Amino acid sequence: MKLDGKRVLVTGASSGIGLALARVLAARGAVLAISSRGAERLEQLSEELASACPGIRKPLPVACDVADGESVRHLIGACVETFGTLDALINNAGICVYGSVEKTPVADFRSLLDVNFLGPVQAMLEVLPFMKRQGHGLIVNVSSVAAIHGVPYLGAYGASKAALVALSQSMRVELAGSGVRVMLVYPDYTESAIFENETKVGGARRPEGPYAPTADVAEAIVRAIEAGKRDLILGARGKTLAFLDGIAPALVENAMRKIAAELREEE
Ligand SMILES: NC(=O)c1ccc[n+]([C@@H]2O[C@H](COP(=O)([O-])OP(=O)(O)OC[C@H]3O[C@@H](n4cnc5c(N)ncnc54)[C@H](OP(=O)(O)O)[C@@H]3O)[C@@H](O)[C@H]2O)c1
Repeated sequence: MKLDGKRVLVTGASSGIGLALARVLAARGAVLAISSRGAERLEQLSEELASACPGIRKPLPVACDVADGESVRHLIGACVETFGTLDALINNAGICVYGSVEKTPVADFRSLLDVNFLGPVQAMLEVLPFMKRQGHGLIVNVSSVAAIHGVPYLGAYGASKAALVALSQSMRVELAGSGVRVMLVYPDYTESAIFENETKVGGARRPEGPYAPTADVAEAIVRAIEAGKRDLILGARGKTLAFLDGIAPALVENAMRKIAAELREEE
């Protein structure tokens, strides 16, 4: 997919991977809509992108809480009203909860599902009629390496991201022949605000890293979009995990058990 002139919505564009994606997409000449919850930050970002890439149409900033169905409906409606349609929707907005499953309150599971799963679901349901009518469209769902195999202390988070994987795989085959494609992205640890903003429920400390730069992750995602890939697993660790999980899941579980023991905090 050539991105020059393509109408692309990025959710979670105010920070981290989404912000880096907005920068790379703007540099490629995409017609952008950028979204997250804070209207003021989005206005600033729109100005910043327009002055960094003078040839592009000024990105459309639309504040939206993806956990709120009405807000998502308004977001897609604003994009369609302004651009006529969308060529690509990048469901990137996300939150994290860190800690052992047994310490995670049900309310935190709900928040994760509302933002990381139901947010993308709602956006896809809103955008699909337009994409199907025009006979083409790309939906990019940002999952996580933690959805490939359960990672210690990311159980609730990984579950919300694994739900997105299963749904995306079902949609791919259901949408075959419609011209609408679904791509899955599995980032590994990436430098971003997600770790400061996450809810910590106790039981463990965070691993030391390494953490990939957001600019590298965004460039890899955009290249995968251009190349028409179905899946993008980021980082050597993520790729190794996916490979070993396919051929030797017991080995992976053993490695995860060691990581769990290393990170566990005494009560
Ligand atoms: N960083 C990693 O190591 C890593 C690894 C695997 C997967 N991922 C995934 O990558 C995606 C981007 O994360 P990131 O690391 O770049 O995190 P980040 O820097 O914290 O960015 C998260 C973005 O999502 C937005 N957001 C959060 N809650 C929202 C809500 N309810 N409605 C609308 N927007 C909301 C935030 O904007 P506002 O707060 O301004 O609304 C922000 O723009 C997420 O889906 C995350 O799960 C990240």
